[in-house]
Amino acid sequence: MYYSDEIVDQVRTANDIVDVIGQNVQLKRSGSNYFGLCPFHNEKSPSFSVSRQKQMYYCFGCHKGGNVITFVEEYQNMNFTEAVEFLARMAGIRLPEREISAAERQGMNERKEILNVNRLAGTYYYYSLRSGAGKGGMDYLTKRGLSEETMKSFALGFAPKTPSDGLYRYLKSKGISDDLLRRSGLMNIDERRGTMYDKFWNRVIFPILDASNRIIGFGGRVMGDAKPKYLNSPETKVFDKSRNLYALNLARRTREDSLVLCEGYMDVISMHQAGFTNAVASLGTSLTPGHCALLSRYTKQVILSYDSDQAGVAAAMRAIPMLRKAGITPKILRLDPYKDPDELIQALGHDAMQERLNQAQNALMFEIEITKRGYDLNDPDAKTRFFENVAARIAALETEMERQNYMDAVCREYLVDRRQLQELVTRRLLNPSVAELRQAGAASPLLSPAGEPEDGPVIPMPDADYDPAALYGYDDSGFYEDETTGEMFQAPPTATSKNRSVSVRDQGDDISRRLLLNYICRYPGIFGTVRKYVMPSDFGEGLTAQAAEVIYGQMEKKGQVDEASILNHFPEAQDQTKIAGIFHTLDQASSGKDREKAIRETLIKVFKASPAASASELSRVIARKKQETELRTIRIQM
Ligand code: GTP
Ligand code: MN
Repeated sequence: MYYSDEIVDQVRTANDIVDVIGQNVQLKRSGSNYFGLCPFHNEKSPSFSVSRQKQMYYCFGCHKGGNVITFVEEYQNMNFTEAVEFLARMAGIRLPEREISAAERQGMNERKEILNVNRLAGTYYYYSLRSGAGKGGMDYLTKRGLSEETMKSFALGFAPKTPSDGLYRYLKSKGISDDLLRRSGLMNIDERRGTMYDKFWNRVIFPILDASNRIIGFGGRVMGDAKPKYLNSPETKVFDKSRNLYALNLARRTREDSLVLCEGYMDVISMHQAGFTNAVASLGTSLTPGHCALLSRYTKQVILSYDSDQAGVAAAMRAIPMLRKAGITPKILRLDPYKDPDELIQALGHDAMQERLNQAQNALMFEIEITKRGYDLNDPDAKTRFFENVAARIAALETEMERQNYMDAVCREYLVDRRQLQELVTRRLLNPSVAELRQAGAASPLLSPAGEPEDGPVIPMPDADYDPAALYGYDDSGFYEDETTGEMFQAPPTATSKNRSVSVRDQGDDISRRLLLNYICRYPGIFGTVRKYVMPSDFGEGLTAQAAEVIYGQMEKKGQVDEASILNHFPEAQDQTKIAGIFHTLDQASSGKDREKAIRETLIKVFKASPAASASELSRVIARKKQETELRTIRIQM
């Protein structure tokens, strides 16, 4: 961290969170909180809450949360330092010169330098397209049906044929060093002769922007049939292909509930021009978990719009389980007989595409359909194996309702007897062999003939009897209002079968620990009692323990917790979100007495889960036993 805690806190407190967020999100007052549509995911009804009192925000839908600094980091795509500087400017606070290590300075400068070169190159390409030298490119793009306006909003450009070192000379004239040009990825280097020339030459240029509109790389397309058809910038300090998506800077503003994931730049541009401004594409690479995580920040539903050829189908089969894993519901856009979205739009126009989008196919039905191609259904054995495969996929579904609905759909589509399919599914459910479940989530045998599938569905584990939700009477849906303060809270995550694949025990422990911290923040009066039995070291290791450290520190020093300032101790946005969750968790115990009991039981749980509980020294064991007995009868003063 570059700035001292004091300065950071000064900047934070000078910017009221409701004011800052209110400038970007429409907020409505409800009780002591403000609510609005979450800017970090798509939703129709508001679950994004901002609390003036806590100086924090939290989304009950996507669980993002933090203080005003986190918000600026996330919303403006800045890092912590940039966000602090931004807020300091807003509040008119002068920051002291910060001390940066040489390595940090170099890393930052390098990014800045390359972004600057990209910006200059983008300008060069942009004007080239619109000059005499760009006529070929302009004709090509016009022939492909793009309007001026579309070309402009995608900042399309052109790398002229002559001079072939036009960009090089332009950048040199702007004072860019050879060394920096080398690192920019925009030049080909002839090592033997030690010379450099433009990488993109006689190509239409597609600048690639990140979500905050900075040019991070380029794609270039030949105008004829030469190979390679597309050339992309290599990865650089600012260009990570596995973490960026083409046109996300535009698509993130869509009002649609879904994003459409295409294969090519031209597909995306065609889609946007036709009014489907929720289209994005990966950058000439296949989909990665990084892309899925990025997508899940903006939407819970992705419509896969891959080419209808064999490669496209294989890519879709790979993408489906990956998207599911990121919590996204995948759907499949059928394009046949057209090859890609661009061709379909050119041929049939907007309405036909809208129709296809409306009819996007459920991913599971798509998987089943593709799997079927691997079996000869005229062969009785193959037919049996096919339906067993289908049954395994259905058995892997979470709820009985889903299973019934899919069985209905499969029976309709594949004319199989309902009772027979039900029997296969039931058998799978009673005996879910791990291999079969894994197979169910993998690509079809036809498309990946050899080897172990990489990623299967999460294997549901047998029920464990630990269920904190039942214990405290949580209802795991929705969120609640605290009847005393009027603030909104959400029940803590429960150990459901979905995330039970870790360790139910550890998860339960963590829930109790987080709950105890929540109680301390809300009822500072209990701290004196709590700390007699449980200290930060009793919270194990990891994030919750670190939070305990900080919360105890503030309680000891000030007798109360300043929730928003706690987040300053956790520079990673991901961690901040988890910590913010601690402050937005509520038990359902309503009356004072129930609450006292709930607190005591939570305290006992945390006490018993302490690493100290495994001490073997006899005197320690006895002392702890005594403490535990005491705990069962103490009064919790609130
Ligand atoms: P058009 O032919 O212009 O309509 O493009 P397309 O999007 O239909 O092309 P295609 O389906 O062949 O390719 C989809 C995406 O894959 C492109 O947008 C590129 O990102 C990438 N790609 C295609 N061809 C190449 C290539 O030769 N090299 C590299 N690196 N990427 C390619
Ligand atoms: Mn195409």
